[in-house]
Amino acid sequence: MRRSKVSASNLAKASAIIRRGGVVAFPTETVYGLGADALNEKAVKKIFRLKGRPSDNPLIVHIAEKTDVGKLVQSIPQIAERLIDKFWPGPLTLVLFKNPSVPDATTAGLETIAIRMPDHEIARRLIKLSGAPIAAPSANRSGRPSPTSARMVRGDFGDAVFVLDGGRAKIGLESTVLDCTGPRPVILRPGAVTKAMIEKATGLKVAARKAATLKHRSPGNRYRHYAPEAAVFVMKNHAAAKKRASTLIQRGLRVGLASGGKNSPAGAIHFRLPKSHAGRARELYAILKAADEKQLDALVIEGVEKKNLGEAIMDRLSKAAKR
Ligand code: TXA
Ligand code: MG
Repeated sequence: MRRSKVSASNLAKASAIIRRGGVVAFPTETVYGLGADALNEKAVKKIFRLKGRPSDNPLIVHIAEKTDVGKLVQSIPQIAERLIDKFWPGPLTLVLFKNPSVPDATTAGLETIAIRMPDHEIARRLIKLSGAPIAAPSANRSGRPSPTSARMVRGDFGDAVFVLDGGRAKIGLESTVLDCTGPRPVILRPGAVTKAMIEKATGLKVAARKAATLKHRSPGNRYRHYAPEAAVFVMKNHAAAKKRASTLIQRGLRVGLASGGKNSPAGAIHFRLPKSHAGRARELYAILKAADEKQLDALVIEGVEKKNLGEAIMDRLSKAAKR
């Protein structure tokens, strides 16, 4: 494994910025976060300004220890306790009824709060050194792909934000967001902790996501997401992707083709996708970003089966494809 480039002095600098009410970007196992003291209203508002994020879209609060959750919520239902035992630290965010001491800016005025404990040593050390839970959305400008490397963060924010460089994100897709405020858990955003994993851990059926209720319950779903400048086409397999790429090239467009297959039509810029779903999840956002850097008109990308991690991959791809 690649050693982290983060020095003790960089960590000290980052935590000093957070303690002073500032904003820093930091690595997690999912994607990079843009963090500030979750209990400091002014600091949290800076995140919204920097990202250009609508103020009615709440943030995820990151903690360093399982026991830190208690201060942020009213109570911990048994389902949540089981999930915390099983999946924290890790890519699972739980939505619970919030403690009134958490500022409205953090939760966008909701009576609930989204919390997770990242599986990343640097993230947890930063939280501990800062002496506060850290509110952090993905460290991208609103509507852009989430960053999976420090370089991607700098591409969006330049020198405006201090970045802790923890190398490439291990998972590459944002955490699963799970609403635990009702009798049955509801997945608001699919991620690496899958429906099957949650059902196995809780012994409960996870309620299906319904688009209508989702808009109300997870404000983030109202907004356009993960969209590169290029038009994105998601195809069933390599052959179909190749065919679509050829058609687009014939129309005179600058085309990228991302697939597991080797051969690509003449004129297409080829991004070779790893075989495994985990590998594809890891590469996805870097490819969306590269589509912009190479000023592609269209990106044709091979989809995956909508199962397990494939559900999260297809969720992000369909959002990227939406115009
Ligand atoms: O993996 C991740 O979750 C990353 C890393 C940095 O931890 N963070 C991330 O944050 O993806 P963001 O802000 O890009 O996405 C947070 C999602 C949004 O869709 C938001 O609407 C939803 O979580 N959310 C936050 N608080 C909520 C709440 N109280 N109820 C329902 N949804 C909530
Ligand atoms: Mg985001």
